Amino acid sequence: MCPSQHQPVLLAQVVEALAPPGTGLIVDATVGLGGHAAALLVRYPSVRVLGLDVDPEALALARQRLESFGNRVVLVVASYWQLAEVARAYGFAAADGVLFDLGVSSLQLDTPARGFSFRHDATLDMRFGPDGETAGELLANIGEEELVRVLRDFGEEPRARRIARAIVRARMKQPLRTTAELRRVVHSALGSARGRIDPATRTFQALRIATNRELEGIPLAVEQAARLLSPGGRLAVIAFHSLEDRLVKRTLRHLAGRCVCPPGSFACTCQPEHLLEVLTPRPIVPTDVEVNANPRARSAKLRIARRVG
Ligand SMILES: C[S@@+](CC[C@H](N)C(=O)[O-])C[C@H]1O[C@@H](n2cnc3c(N)ncnc32)[C@H](O)[C@@H]1O
Repeated sequence: MCPSQHQPVLLAQVVEALAPPGTGLIVDATVGLGGHAAALLVRYPSVRVLGLDVDPEALALARQRLESFGNRVVLVVASYWQLAEVARAYGFAAADGVLFDLGVSSLQLDTPARGFSFRHDATLDMRFGPDGETAGELLANIGEEELVRVLRDFGEEPRARRIARAIVRARMKQPLRTTAELRRVVHSALGSARGRIDPATRTFQALRIATNRELEGIPLAVEQAARLLSPGGRLAVIAFHSLEDRLVKRTLRHLAGRCVCPPGSFACTCQPEHLLEVLTPRPIVPTDVEVNANPRARSAKLRIARRVG
């Protein structure tokens, strides 16, 4: 796949948000195919970018794309879970900007062998990188109650129990190995597609999030990013579904010194710290023009914060 086939979302808004106040060290924590990174490097000639991604295939393409920027770019196969450690190791400990463009790239979605999409029949893999349990292995090992929770919490699937039961029944006969098999089981539980949205959509989203433990890492990584920034430095986070965005919003509030304890709590136990000022009370969303040109942008939400102190 050509890197330009993944169209970076909210590109102009990200580039504007990350205008460097200082020397110009920017960490792209999910560099993917390097679309945002390339635009930042072109727009700000003094900027250097440290790009992280857990996907070596994406990084190889980013490396080709960003080759002409020479030593202004450092690319590392690493998870943003290790953001602080990697940034320190490569001299980006006092950054002017950090970007997270969360989720999955078009390269990953459109490569059948990666098993992210029910549009292609492939092994149920769904891992962003080569490590850890595949979606198929997760489905083989997970208990029914836990599966209900995964489908409900990560897929916001109202018929989670019915699907979980069908999956458990099906895997007793034979393991679910492919995207087509999983889709068939979901259809057998819910009925086949009638509208525009395939009934298996939420199940596939839930399974991808669980396989990559996507939500777990976000608060930790965003907090590391906030601590990495030098005063005045900016943090930009693009989320693609409501679960992710809610988590980002809550984490930014907490890092902006606001209590995020559940309503009705007797006393505050969350110990907020005032590291950030949130610059987007409401998230920035793509224009209709962008969504028409790139339908995958339709659910994107960009939140920006500035390091204080
Ligand atoms: C939406 S894409 C980023 C696209 C990129 N901004 C561009 O313009 O090409 C999200 C990327 O995040 C990566 N990713 C997912 N989880 C990650 C993690 N824990 N650490 C680092 N990268 C991760 C995925 O592999 C994917 O390449």
